[in-house]
Amino acid sequence: MTKIIDGKRISAEIKDELREQAMKFKERGIEATLAVVQVGLDPASSIYVRNKKKACEYVGIRSLSYELAEETTEEELLSLIEKLNKDNAVSGILVQLPLPAHICEKHILDAISPAKDVDCFHPENVGKMCLGEPGFLPCTPAGVVELLKREGIEIAGKECVVIGRSNIVGKPASMMMLRENATVTIAHSRTKDLREVTKRADILIVAVGKPLMIDDSYVKEGAVVIDVGIHRNAENKVCGDVDYDKVAPKCSAITPVPGGVGPMTIAMLMRNCLSTIIDK
Ligand code: GUN
Repeated sequence: MTKIIDGKRISAEIKDELREQAMKFKERGIEATLAVVQVGLDPASSIYVRNKKKACEYVGIRSLSYELAEETTEEELLSLIEKLNKDNAVSGILVQLPLPAHICEKHILDAISPAKDVDCFHPENVGKMCLGEPGFLPCTPAGVVELLKREGIEIAGKECVVIGRSNIVGKPASMMMLRENATVTIAHSRTKDLREVTKRADILIVAVGKPLMIDDSYVKEGAVVIDVGIHRNAENKVCGDVDYDKVAPKCSAITPVPGGVGPMTIAMLMRNCLSTIIDK
């Protein structure tokens, strides 16, 4: 029987744990505050931002919204970040990506104070994560590891193949699996004989960004498959990078889309936000 990994349930459990923690801090007059910055009106970004603010409200984290016009200049955005960096009432800063094409993403992400970088996108925090030093963990990769741990899936010593090498998911996910003592391979668009590589995986993490690309021919019998993708198909139905109907019967456990990794990203963001008042 294939186990369906219920990210919605697990993320709800985590948010309840964090809510308890937040309440204890609130009794002592300490509250976390997340500044959420969105530039432009990308509909997908608006949904993500709304869900993040909703999660803050549930957990007991104050959220401040900065909804900036599409034409906002890089200088204007940098000066807002500078202001938020200096504001002691703000403990976390999140700039929703993607940014409009005229703004350099790297300039913006590098300007966020590493102490407030709840996305864990700043090079200093990425470096600490790679070195195994304490600090923020990137939300989606941390969500993947947390799902595996809470489902009791052993990671140490397992063959893990990550498909995708993005800075947000593929690269940090492979580092985090290495931290958990998996034997890690990163596959990507230039990998030769991709199926040969992915069929080695005991744990296959798919972050390719192509709807339904991975079918059963890429998967070893009994593997655990984690689908990080999220898309809408021709019928406007939400789907992942994995062809769930073909892959699920072949594996021992699989995340659905929606309801797998997605909700975990937000739960891990909430964990990072609370850590800004706990660790610092
Ligand atoms: N856009 C897509 N995913 C993310 C994320 O995890 N953080 C931010 N800030 N923007 C995103």
